Amino acid sequence: MMYLPKVLHVAATASLLALPLAPRIAQAQTKTLPEQIADVMVKLAGGVHPGLRITHTKGLVATGTFTAAPGAKTLSRAAHLQGAPVPVTVRFSDGSGIPNIPDNNPNASPHGLAIRFALPGGAYTDIVANSHNGFFVGNGNDFLAFLTAVASTTDKSPHPSPIEAFLGAHPAALKVAMESRAASKSFENLDFYGNNAFIFVDAAGNKHPFRYQIIPVAGVVKLDSATAAKQKPDYMFDDLKRAVAKGPVKYTIYAQLANPGDPTNDGSVVWPADRKRVELGTLSVTKLVANSDSAQKALAFNPIILTNGITLSDDPLPSIRSAVYALSVAHRR
Ligand code: HEM
Repeated sequence: MMYLPKVLHVAATASLLALPLAPRIAQAQTKTLPEQIADVMVKLAGGVHPGLRITHTKGLVATGTFTAAPGAKTLSRAAHLQGAPVPVTVRFSDGSGIPNIPDNNPNASPHGLAIRFALPGGAYTDIVANSHNGFFVGNGNDFLAFLTAVASTTDKSPHPSPIEAFLGAHPAALKVAMESRAASKSFENLDFYGNNAFIFVDAAGNKHPFRYQIIPVAGVVKLDSATAAKQKPDYMFDDLKRAVAKGPVKYTIYAQLANPGDPTNDGSVVWPADRKRVELGTLSVTKLVANSDSAQKALAFNPIILTNGITLSDDPLPSIRSAVYALSVAHRR
């Protein structure tokens, strides 16, 4: 969740009013959905922050290895899932486009974990996950409506405010907004979810729809609100730096498999917890990169960078996401 400072709201409205009507309409009509989403994200971030992501802006880059568990290759023929350890680059992040958002600010949640697996021959594949099981909405139009509602809400909005009205009509988004407010003890104690469905293809060509779950080996720990309020602004990143320096920070990556009939086209619908979960392997984060700021500027994770053995499902979000991520990359480069 993100909050639009009042002053910006006024500035945005004023600049719109300054345009003659016809170009204004033409401009609105020519913007694609990803462009409109990116525009609202920039607005929510308080404008463009040169060189930085338009959301998930505050982050830290590290490296490590991923070692597949024996069950992984039964689901997918992807090179990194066959058993040999592969190098990974990861980026931990706070949600929101505010570059210095305190880690205990509710708008910093859901937090992010992006993982890039190095494949033989120089190729790579990504997982881009966040710390809530279930996304706010299931498609790009609803995401634009959600962000627009956040951006149109001020302290002075009469009730129901635009965001109250949106959340009232979208119970899944309300659930994410409420549940992700609890601050986490640390990134080492945080669980992450791919939310979008992908399809594994095994050696025989069989297809297995699934979603990623990334569970910390140290266990999931949340802070009560009094303890959360006492934390320093960078407590999660400071703690992560200390933890990685001491020894590997580990997560188990699972595939939650869809039962027949489970929707693969709506990342806001959480599949029941009794669905079969196959352990894909262990992610070990072992080293901070020397210059995280320049590394994160250069890195461009993308949920649709897949590889032979993993394909898109009918979930509409990854493609929309990919287009908006590309716009964000264009901004920072
Ligand atoms: C329509 C829905 C979504 C849109 C438009 C969107 C948009 C974006 C954009 C523009 C970025 C910045 C990319 C960059 O500059 O490299 C970003 C980053 C990120 N997003 Fe999303 N996102 C969406 C949904 C999701 C979902 C469902 C998840 C996770 C389940 C997610 C997790 C993340 C993470 C972890 C990052 C940071 C990646 C990094 O560390 O570079 N996003 N998102």
